[in-house]
Amino acid sequence: MKLTGNTVFITGGGSGIGRGLAEALHKLGNKVIISGRRKGHLAATIKANSGMQSVELDVAHPASIAAVAKKLIADYPELNVLINNAGIMQIDDAAGAVDEAVLVPTVMTNLLGPIRMTSALIDHLKKQASATVINVSSGLAFTPLAMTAVYCATKAAMHSYTLSQRYKLKGSSVTVLELAPPWVQTDLLGGKSDPRAMPLQEFIDETMTLLATNATEILVEGVKMLRNNVGPDEGAFLTQFNDRLAQSPH
Ligand SMILES: NC(=O)c1ccc[n+]([C@@H]2O[C@H](COP(=O)([O-])OP(=O)(O)OC[C@H]3O[C@@H](n4cnc5c(N)ncnc54)[C@H](OP(=O)(O)O)[C@@H]3O)[C@@H](O)[C@H]2O)c1
Repeated sequence: MKLTGNTVFITGGGSGIGRGLAEALHKLGNKVIISGRRKGHLAATIKANSGMQSVELDVAHPASIAAVAKKLIADYPELNVLINNAGIMQIDDAAGAVDEAVLVPTVMTNLLGPIRMTSALIDHLKKQASATVINVSSGLAFTPLAMTAVYCATKAAMHSYTLSQRYKLKGSSVTVLELAPPWVQTDLLGGKSDPRAMPLQEFIDETMTLLATNATEILVEGVKMLRNNVGPDEGAFLTQFNDRLAQSPH
């Protein structure tokens, strides 16, 4: 995609990968609007990046999405890039009774959220000469981490939805990309200082290089093992992957 001259709206831009992408795009001179629930994180991010804007948003609530979409279209008529990045990850137990307190918020945030957010902006995006939707899935969409089964299922569903969106928008001005990160050092599931995870800035730098190409799946080197696993031998690889991650890094 073209990485300059855009007006970018990103969900969950006050921390982690979202903040990293927002700052990288801001540095390239794009107009960037970040969003999320925690006012303090939004305020700190826009304070550190002069000219960046923010709006409070809860993607788990349709009314919040509708209100923010209306405001975005009114305040930023040139908006042409949507990055569906907001997400949550919690440990669950696929071998036991489902915990509604994990199931419902995870599906609402990670699956219904990005579908509704795109739905609220798609007519506007189609009117732009060139527009991009970036859905942030995960390497775990392709090789699930069994201790976060619901999370992985939402990401697999987003991969599927992205394929359908891309197919249906073929020939329109809207390009649909999927960004599937590997394990990256952020607050997600407390992995910020885990040495097995990829340092955030390295991930952002490699991602920005890939975003500048025509690739529709943005896959840093470190995630290809998970992405390319899908196939008839999926079960054996999945066991190996889960066994290895269950071991302590130290
Ligand atoms: N880090 C990894 O290893 C990794 C790997 C693969 C994929 N990913 C994906 O990358 C994306 C970003 O995660 P991250 O690693 O950067 O973790 P993070 O720092 O925890 O960021 C998640 C962001 O999502 C926002 N968010 C969560 N629930 C929201 C809601 N209901 N409404 C609006 N915003 C919400 C959070 O902001 P508020 O809490 O302020 O709302 C936060 O800024 C997620 O989709 C995640 O699944 C991460």
